[in-house]
Amino acid sequence: MDRIFYKSKYDYQKTIKHVSRTIVSVLDDDAIAKLLTDTVVDTMLVEHCSVFLSEPSDRHFVNFSATAKPVGLDQPLKWPIESALVEFMKTHHQPVMRRKVAKQISAVDKKDVLSDLEILNADIVLPLLFKEQLYGFIILGEKRSGDLFTKEDMDLLETLSSQSALALENARSYKIIEDLNKDLEKKVEERTRALKEALSEKERTQEQLIRSESLAAIGQLVAGVAHELNNPLTTVTSLVQAAIEDIEQLDSENSLDAYMIDDLKFADKELDRARSIVSSLLGLSRQTQTYSEAVDINSVIKDALRILYNQYKHCELNIVETYARDLPDIRGNFANLGQVALNIIKNAIQAVVDMKGTIFLSTHFDVSARQVVFLCKDTGPGIPVDIREDIFKPFFTTKAVGKGTGLGLYICHEIIVKHGGTLKHQKSDETGAVFEVRLPAGA
Ligand SMILES: Nc1ncnc2c1ncn2[C@@H]1O[C@H](COP(=O)(O)OP(=O)(O)OP(=O)(O)O)[C@@H](O)[C@H]1O
Ligand SMILES: [Mg+2]
Repeated sequence: MDRIFYKSKYDYQKTIKHVSRTIVSVLDDDAIAKLLTDTVVDTMLVEHCSVFLSEPSDRHFVNFSATAKPVGLDQPLKWPIESALVEFMKTHHQPVMRRKVAKQISAVDKKDVLSDLEILNADIVLPLLFKEQLYGFIILGEKRSGDLFTKEDMDLLETLSSQSALALENARSYKIIEDLNKDLEKKVEERTRALKEALSEKERTQEQLIRSESLAAIGQLVAGVAHELNNPLTTVTSLVQAAIEDIEQLDSENSLDAYMIDDLKFADKELDRARSIVSSLLGLSRQTQTYSEAVDINSVIKDALRILYNQYKHCELNIVETYARDLPDIRGNFANLGQVALNIIKNAIQAVVDMKGTIFLSTHFDVSARQVVFLCKDTGPGIPVDIREDIFKPFFTTKAVGKGTGLGLYICHEIIVKHGGTLKHQKSDETGAVFEVRLPAGA
């Protein structure tokens, strides 16, 4: 029955159902405006229809979608918020119909609203309202048939416009949430990065602290032991030397005595080595040293090389020296720093000597940190990852018995710390070892 007697009503209901289903899932202003104009033109068969939407950042409504150009007139692309037409819709929340303006509007505003309708070439203007907020409006030209708009037409138009306003509100809320989300993601990323940096910085400092604390504790122990060993070593040495002299004076032909002298001489040599270890440790622990000389690190390195010259002059190795010209002096102890350069370069020589390698010695001034930097890089086998933690510990050595005491880097480290600097083995992807000494400039 409905379909035969109320055909238009039946079609309208279908239209509304279709639009309601579709429009709620549309999340962008352009698409909503397009769907609205298409639907109005298809169902009402009007000459033209356009949708103006508010631009949050602008004091205008902008023409988002238009079907068929308004005959005779070019519709403006922007419509000011301050117009009489907009003012009317904001206050009365009602559609404006050209033919009813006389009844709808007071005589004072009538002229202005009519002229607005004229400019827009509009027969009907419907506000897009949601919770009293005007999101925009729809403009309809006359019906192509010339018929007037019926009550049913108006009902459909009002339902469509309120649904579109709801959809616009949805789309804009969605956009705000999306923007907030993006912002949040960015902030989370930034915070994560900052946290990661802080964490690795903390790990680095912790590592350094543990290392320097354990080195300090070991250092105290070692100094104590060295002190205790000093006296018995001196006694044994003098006894051994006295025994050698006694046996030599016996002037005997006994071959056993000769063997004994050999053994005792060997024992004396070993004792000598023990004494030198003890004295270098004791030297380190005594606080009587001064650290106030002005020291040129370039000369420290050159001197160390000169001392080592006899050791490497017959070896097939290259030494490449790159010294910074205007290197500031540092405050410290020239002899102690010489020992540092000597130990580090000696290690490098020992590392490359069998492989005809190269040693790169360089200095530079780190302006921002105000530090003088000495780098010693070699092309040797490098230091295996699992022993990197240990190389600064006293008596840690990978060299054959009698070849190294394992005190070199430990002593270097202690001296550099006393100068307020740092000594590090730098991790590098290339093979070979890189040692970096940093000392505060001037002061
Ligand atoms: N340039 C280097 N290349 C490879 N390994 C090195 C280098 N420098 C130091 N090492 C490693 O660090 C260890 C400790 O060095 P350190 O100078 O403290 O003692 P050492 O050289 O073994 O003995 P000493 O210096 O008393 O003769 C070495 O045994 C070696 O394993
Ligand atoms: Mg060494």
